[in-house]
Amino acid sequence: MNQHLRPDPVPFIDIGAQRRRLGTSIVEAVGRVLHHCQFINGPEVTQLEAELAAYTGAKYVVTCASGTDALLMVLMARGVGRGDAVLCPSFTFCATGEAVALTGATPVFVDVDETTFNMDASALKRGIATAKRLGLKPKAVIPVDLFGQSADHDSIGAIAEAEGMFVLDDAAQAFGASYKGRRLGTFGLVTATSFFPAKPLGCYGDGGAIFTDDAALAADLRSIRVHGQGSDKYDNVRLGLTGRLDTMQAAVLIEKLKIFEDEIAARNAVADRYARGLGNLVSVPRLASGCTSVWAQYTIRLPEGCDRDGFAASLKAQGVPTAIYYPKSMHQQTAYRGYPVADGGLPVSEKLSDDVISLPMHAYLDEPVQQRIIKAVRDALGA
Ligand SMILES: Cc1ncc(COP(=O)(O)O)c(C=O)c1O
Repeated sequence: MNQHLRPDPVPFIDIGAQRRRLGTSIVEAVGRVLHHCQFINGPEVTQLEAELAAYTGAKYVVTCASGTDALLMVLMARGVGRGDAVLCPSFTFCATGEAVALTGATPVFVDVDETTFNMDASALKRGIATAKRLGLKPKAVIPVDLFGQSADHDSIGAIAEAEGMFVLDDAAQAFGASYKGRRLGTFGLVTATSFFPAKPLGCYGDGGAIFTDDAALAADLRSIRVHGQGSDKYDNVRLGLTGRLDTMQAAVLIEKLKIFEDEIAARNAVADRYARGLGNLVSVPRLASGCTSVWAQYTIRLPEGCDRDGFAASLKAQGVPTAIYYPKSMHQQTAYRGYPVADGGLPVSEKLSDDVISLPMHAYLDEPVQQRIIKAVRDALGA
């Protein structure tokens, strides 16, 4: 095709638009850190933890270096290890099961619900039975609030409680979403999130946070964050990590938190427009009752028999990028094939890995550009 006829490419996520909106506020916030030079454990870290606690309603917030560290630190704090089973959805980003495997425990993969993409409660029960049959102790469950929508926390919490397991909510993609009127960060024993730049609330590097109402757990997490430090700085009392969020990232997040609610509203407006424009053509994401989403991704399912690669190529030719989250569920990936899956297999995860595709989604996607995307989808499907 003649290059001059190619339509302007649409960004998949427009971090630059947000950067322009924030203007000098971020530069000034980072400038303050450069001025006081407390690059580690500076006052912005404490301020951010207080603001995140107020925002979610969690009593304690421990910021950390990434969403992966957030998951790992919790599992370390709870002594999860060899012989333990941790139930995870397979249709998720790899960090969910990876953190489990890093502790020496066994991730047991369970299936997800076809409409919400989140952990299916009946599949969780099957996974627990599988773990027991294999001689593992079911210790924890990690529901993931995938693509921004909260999981079914009541059903999962009830199953976990009956089994004496704790719930570690992986809200890496869903910080800001709520379930039955309560913000994520307050379900289960503890919640982990990520501030990776592409997340709905992202910093300008890696970052994460852990939320809990359990004072003892919060204290252990603060110790693990600094190599397992005890009250005597040079007597480390447990194994830990260099797991801190640095002060500059905290300063960035404080500024971004100020516009976050507004951005969530904008993301919801984008999702509504997609649903109106595409709902009669493809399977668009649906919110389960009581759940809200921050739309980390807008993931559609293509009609049976549709060639996904051809569909993506057709959109690309119109300047519309797409992404596939996730072309392989965790149990289908090389590093995780050896771990158990719940009895009955994971047919939904495998089907989703074959037919999902995500469209551009961010708070700055204006209506004319979005109509271009919708038209490209309709054209690609011959509608
Ligand atoms: C569901 C899920 N869990 C965990 C993580 C890990 O977060 P991070 O990249 O900050 O380590 C991610 C990040 O993409 C994620 O999507």
